[in-house]
Amino acid sequence: METRVVRMDRDNLRKEQFEEAVALLRRGELVAFPTETVYGLGGNALDPAASAKIYAAKGRPSDNPLIVHICDTDALSELAQDIPDGAWELAKRFWPGPMTMILKKKDIVPKETTGGLSTVAIRMPSDPIAAMLIRESGLYIAAPSANASGRPSTTRAEHVYEDLNGRIPMILDGGAVQIGLESTIIDLTGERPLILRPGYITLEDVRKVLPNAAYDPAVLRRKADDTIVAKAPGMKYRHYAPKGQLTVFEGSLENVTKAVRKNAAEKKAEGFRVAILASEETKDAYKGYTVCSVGDREDEAGIAARLFDTLREFDHMGADYIFGECFPTEGVGQAVMNRLMKAAGYHIEQV
Ligand code: TXA
Ligand code: MG
Repeated sequence: METRVVRMDRDNLRKEQFEEAVALLRRGELVAFPTETVYGLGGNALDPAASAKIYAAKGRPSDNPLIVHICDTDALSELAQDIPDGAWELAKRFWPGPMTMILKKKDIVPKETTGGLSTVAIRMPSDPIAAMLIRESGLYIAAPSANASGRPSTTRAEHVYEDLNGRIPMILDGGAVQIGLESTIIDLTGERPLILRPGYITLEDVRKVLPNAAYDPAVLRRKADDTIVAKAPGMKYRHYAPKGQLTVFEGSLENVTKAVRKNAAEKKAEGFRVAILASEETKDAYKGYTVCSVGDREDEAGIAARLFDTLREFDHMGADYIFGECFPTEGVGQAVMNRLMKAAGYHIEQV
């Protein structure tokens, strides 16, 4: 299959630009598109065959449910039942935007889309290209992140092409996304609202609407500990991983840079290709190595926007071993560290 990349003009979005993508979606085909968080791989959420195509294109295990994207809050009551008041309050405060809610599903949502679960994940994206695609198609669009399963999520159309070329008919290229990490997922089906995946919208933000919200314990996990089972099926898989082995060091910045240098020197001496995940503040401490800086340590949003790009760069370099720093967990930093821990397969050392 040939994959067409269609460049979208963000400053001048017109209906005609969506005609082909809409025709593909209505025919049960897949279209990748930008959202404010990461690129999504979209298909008709109510068509089990389209969901099957999504799993096949990504190489994703079919027990890992998809997020259903909507363009109108009213769609909540079409797709979900027993909706608690808190869900409407969250929708009012955070939609359109980088927030996904887990609710009890209605029968029209096929089990193929929800990975066999009786709950459904729903999000209303704010990116105008995503919003217009959903609106013009007249569909609910199931869309996981548009990466090959296990790889870092895609923040630019080039990344989508790298992973899915030949597997999908179309990519809408809207340039680099704004946020760079996937949406915050909030489970509203239990006694207490639980954040299953941290994102740009933080626990503190959510607590302003739902004061008793908490993290699912799996979110704060810092080591490979199988006794904590993630409630979001996708959070249990090895994910976001570069091809080389990433190890992350946690401790004072001085100890961290020392440990990174020591480990990098050892692997280099053994003849491996070594790369370092650093920040603007520390990059000069690693002279003689291949260094990728994710930005200023205090700029969590900037780090979030560059993290997945940087993880992909390590693959382009052919790095066998990557040694990295931890970053502050203020604001969206919590989500940054959650993705970094997973990318490292919880190879993390306290120094
Ligand atoms: O920002 C985002 O959320 C992006 C863009 C494209 O919207 N989408 C995204 O989808 O990240 P995906 O499929 O890569 O991640 C969805 C996560 C997975 O971890 C999945 O297990 C979880 O949401 N999930 C989906 N439905 C669920 C459900 N019913 N219960 C619990 N977790 C669910
Ligand atoms: Mg994903």
